[in-house]
Amino acid sequence: MLKGKKIALYVTGGIAVYKVVDLMREFIKNGAEVRVAMTESAAEFVSPLTFQVLSKHQVYIDTFMEDNPRVVNHIHFADWADFSLIAPLTANTLAKLAHGLADNFVTSALLATRSPIFAIPAMNTHMYDNQVTKENRDLLTKRDIYMMEPDTGFLAEGYSGKGRFPEKERIIEEFEGFMRNHITDLPLKGKKVIVTAGGTKERIDPVRYITNDSSGKTGHAIAEAAWNKGADVVLITASSIPVPDRIQKVAVESAKEMHQAVLEHFETADSLIMSAAVSDYTPKTVAENKMKKTDSLSLEFEKNPDILKDMGSRKRADQCLVGFAAETEHIIEYAQSKLKEKNADMIVANDVGQKDRGFNVDNNEVTFITHTSEPIPIRLKKKTEIADDIVSWIVDFFKNN
Ligand SMILES: Cc1cc2nc3c(=O)[nH]c(=O)nc-3n(C[C@H](O)[C@H](O)[C@H](O)COP(=O)(O)O)c2cc1C
Repeated sequence: MLKGKKIALYVTGGIAVYKVVDLMREFIKNGAEVRVAMTESAAEFVSPLTFQVLSKHQVYIDTFMEDNPRVVNHIHFADWADFSLIAPLTANTLAKLAHGLADNFVTSALLATRSPIFAIPAMNTHMYDNQVTKENRDLLTKRDIYMMEPDTGFLAEGYSGKGRFPEKERIIEEFEGFMRNHITDLPLKGKKVIVTAGGTKERIDPVRYITNDSSGKTGHAIAEAAWNKGADVVLITASSIPVPDRIQKVAVESAKEMHQAVLEHFETADSLIMSAAVSDYTPKTVAENKMKKTDSLSLEFEKNPDILKDMGSRKRADQCLVGFAAETEHIIEYAQSKLKEKNADMIVANDVGQKDRGFNVDNNEVTFITHTSEPIPIRLKKKTEIADDIVSWIVDFFKNN
């Protein structure tokens, strides 16, 4: 969501300024372009040089430092941004914004910008709870400035209360949600996408099971990529990778549970991406108690439901079904016959026989097998990038169907 976005970061003079350095680096790491404006008070806490070096751009503090005769800096800064982020927002600047003051670079640019504004107030708990601060917050909320709730916890003053600058993970999650709400032309807006992920676990007894090497990384990355393109995502997962709140998680263990969950959602879905490594077989019986050690052990297996095939038989023409083929030999041939046999729209074929790609690592190299083109090779790259490619293919599918 942050990739390629222009973020104007406004830093005001609270003790949390040092935390914003790390937050800004995270934004840049995620592909955003960040430019910084600070109040004079903010510059008392962290040197503008730190922000300049890390953002690789000049930091603006003085409204009258007009070094470019072709533009007025604070208006140019305000117009440049796709989104504005005030972090931290002091009680003082909050009050100024509530009453339309424009007495420094930060307040002048914020009054001028037409970009959506996301603010993170952080201050002493009594300042935060003060009636005048509360009224100022309400005024800004009414004017569509997003006010993030600060954390409650140990404050710089040595006691606990509400007003702490939130953890960066929460800020990024909430900010991305805010961005998504403001972008009107996301290609999967209004579409429901189901993703399955992870290796299913087939129980032998209450403490033992059979599984495979799938980590769930690809499926979880596809869920994120679909969310970034505007979809409502249901992630049916057998993996223990954490899932952000914005994605509806259905935790499952066995292939049968996964089948049930997919069945519940498939009819109302626009797309299903079956990236889970579903066990083909399951023990015929599950021991009620932990099995005791014996000289040898034989287990009898029965076939699990073929979820992809079942959904292929139920699929409507307006639904997009994507399956995966993890193979160690004859990869393309197997994937081509799987495409037909399962009535899928695309099979993502991958070679799981190599150590640096496939199961349980961060990279993969795959081939897209479709009905409409020659096999499309996707070179070795991060699973998150492959997830983007898969979702882009689905976007094109909806455009063409
Ligand atoms: C050590 C110290 C820490 C401060 N921390 C905060 C803070 O966390 N939040 C806040 O609203 N004000 C805080 N202040 C007060 C502001 O710095 C002060 O109100 C200042 O005028 C804010 O200016 P600005 O809004 O232009 O950045 C702090 C002041 C000092 C000296």
